Amino acid sequence: MDIRQAPRRHSLARRTLVRSVELACCALGGRAWYRTRFLGPGRLVERHETLRIRAFPRALRVAQLSDFHAGSFLGPGDLKHAIERVGALAPDLIALTGDFITHAPRELERVLDDLALLRAPLGVFAVLGNHDYRGRQDPWIVAQLAARGVRTLRNEGVRLELAGGALCVIGVEDLEESKRLDFEAARACVRAGDFELVLSHHPALASHAARERCVAVLSGHTHGTQLDLPLLRRAGPAHPGLRVPFGPTTLIVSRGLGAIGLPLRWGAPAEVVIVNVEPV
Ligand SMILES: [Fe+2]
Ligand SMILES: [Fe+2]
Repeated sequence: MDIRQAPRRHSLARRTLVRSVELACCALGGRAWYRTRFLGPGRLVERHETLRIRAFPRALRVAQLSDFHAGSFLGPGDLKHAIERVGALAPDLIALTGDFITHAPRELERVLDDLALLRAPLGVFAVLGNHDYRGRQDPWIVAQLAARGVRTLRNEGVRLELAGGALCVIGVEDLEESKRLDFEAARACVRAGDFELVLSHHPALASHAARERCVAVLSGHTHGTQLDLPLLRRAGPAHPGLRVPFGPTTLIVSRGLGAIGLPLRWGAPAEVVIVNVEPV
């Protein structure tokens, strides 16, 4: 399937400016502010989405965490509450939908100990986001995640046998910056009658997944606009909505956990998404 890469949106000058603003905010206590205002108890949103799917093998709970953006505003221990909430919900499967870092691969080290605490019986799966290709050390990021029990799906799928059927977790490379998204290769494990759950950092994959009748696409990338104000909505990536039907496929877009540019969110809280799949 031919999927056109989305154009890269940020020039080097813009990225340098963003990084400078982040460092200034960080020096003024931006990280502690962000953790308290958006990631702590009573602030972090736990969003539940229910998917009722005909003949699905069994009830399934998937926890989705996205857009960490380790760096100026997210460091060691800042994900503690989010990870405790996920643990308390006992999901069957955990999906991490990319943007682990903000500017540099080594930023990942700031969240690895927290991510290592994630556990789920069917596995913890990840895809990379556009930021994760910065510095082109994505293999190192994948290796670090693997050492913590997180399997990154790079144009590949995993077929999970459930009582009464199979679920394929399909993960694709990023649509903007990977330069090699191959949805067909990712779906190589799929057999007739399987259900497909697609992890794609960029939500634009949903229309392609709908053609293949995948049950759902879990995405991130938009931060729910992060600053949901009329004049600022167009500053970030286009946001299609939090839950969007595409015929047989439901796109679920996480507003993510971290922030870029400013340690601030408005009308778009940081969140953990819980997808409850129910057979009907
Ligand atoms: Fe992001
Ligand atoms: Fe992104």
